[in-house]
Amino acid sequence: MIVLAAGRGTRMKSSTPKVLFDVCGASSLEHVLRAVRSPGIAAAEVVVVIAPEPAVDPNDSHPPESLSAAAARHGAKTVVQDPPLGTGHAVKVGMSAVSEGERDVLIVYGDGPLFTATSLAALLALHRADGAAQTLLTATVSDPKGLGRIVRLPAKGGQLGSVARIVEELDADDATRTIREINTGIQVLRADVARAILPALKNANIKGEYYLTDVTAMLIADGKKVSAVGVGDPREALTFNSIEELAGVRTEMRRRINAQHMAAGVDIIDPASAYIDVDVRIGRDTKILPGTVIGRGVSIGERCVIGPFAHLRLETRLDDGAEIGNFVEVKKSRIGAGSKAKHLTYIGDATLGKKVNVGCGTITANYDGKKKHETVIGDGAFIGSGTVLCAPVEIKQYAMTAAGAVVRPRTDVGESEVWAGVPARKLESSSQRRKSDRDNKKSGGKG
Ligand code: UD1
Ligand code: CA
Repeated sequence: MIVLAAGRGTRMKSSTPKVLFDVCGASSLEHVLRAVRSPGIAAAEVVVVIAPEPAVDPNDSHPPESLSAAAARHGAKTVVQDPPLGTGHAVKVGMSAVSEGERDVLIVYGDGPLFTATSLAALLALHRADGAAQTLLTATVSDPKGLGRIVRLPAKGGQLGSVARIVEELDADDATRTIREINTGIQVLRADVARAILPALKNANIKGEYYLTDVTAMLIADGKKVSAVGVGDPREALTFNSIEELAGVRTEMRRRINAQHMAAGVDIIDPASAYIDVDVRIGRDTKILPGTVIGRGVSIGERCVIGPFAHLRLETRLDDGAEIGNFVEVKKSRIGAGSKAKHLTYIGDATLGKKVNVGCGTITANYDGKKKHETVIGDGAFIGSGTVLCAPVEIKQYAMTAAGAVVRPRTDVGESEVWAGVPARKLESSSQRRKSDRDNKKSGGKG
């Protein structure tokens, strides 16, 4: 199968390849690759058509990941289209890397991350059932602006007319522009047909490009069968050519992610202000309050409360009943069952046991300018407001820090001890306190 990703993406006004833009925690390319590799599609061999890549700047210590590197990381091979001369030309180039044994080639565009495996499966099933040379996935949308229109033959006996050709918006007359059935770009093409017809494409259009969309009319003129199936939900057909359109794609992806969590019993108070990436696990009866941002891979238990205005980042795990409140950021940390950090806190590279209370304004100072260090807080510990825990540091169970304590690196705060001050020093442990209370009473009785 072929993923087209060599377009110049000029409308993005960016040096980042268009298909590498992030959509809820995964690039557009990764979303596409996940869909085509879903069970039932299982496109093992994926060829990504890319544009020639700029040379890496040797002075750049953190160069951005190239498209070829990203494709390789996702187990896809790449072929370079040099120069990119249009989508039809791109498929021709892509075919050079498709193995001879493939009967049909699934073609998708890398700038459409929303289509589902269900739609792909329907497309492939129809293609096989009809024995077509080409089968198109189409969508009927309210705003077809900028997209290729599906022109059909007149309806016959109540049956939708068959597809005659695809006309690009720029080349369409006013009547054609009123058509709301559009080309998603996703299609199945018989490999032998593709190899025979693509070299014959012409670029006699306003853009002067070799359009994949012209293949349809050519096949029909040749007496070949072209089928089409409408996508289940037209929102799957959203693609992006500009940052503004990308924002629309992200909104739709977010809506879909939030809908899945809500269907699984997560109480999202205002889905429009819950920003949840892909691959986030959330248990039932957890409440997500407004303004919450949850990064990819975060895992949240049942009956937790997150937000308002909370930020949970990579490799964070919250056990059941944990609460993360307003203006709290958690990164690479585990928050044990029933533990709470309700206000104005940063928790990074930390492991918290059960029922820990993290006071307002607490900071795990995890970075010394060179390395990140760990903080460990035991069960039932009480971290007073405004505590700074300079990692690496360990606070044992039931220990307590007083408000404003600055606990220095490599300090071990022992079980049930109380530490206070800047830098923090040990006061007495609560068990000692109880013992000395008893001793005081005894000596008071004698004297
Ligand atoms: C294309 C379709 C249009 C369809 C729309 C759906 C054509 C001619 N038009 O228009 O009918 O409604 O997508 O979103 O196909 N690409 C290459 N090499 C190239 C040019 C493009 O690989 O030389 C890739 C792009 O990276 C992109 C995809 O092909 O992923 C589509 O190209 P794009 O320029 O975005 O086409 P549209 O104008 O959106
Ligand atoms: Ca596009």
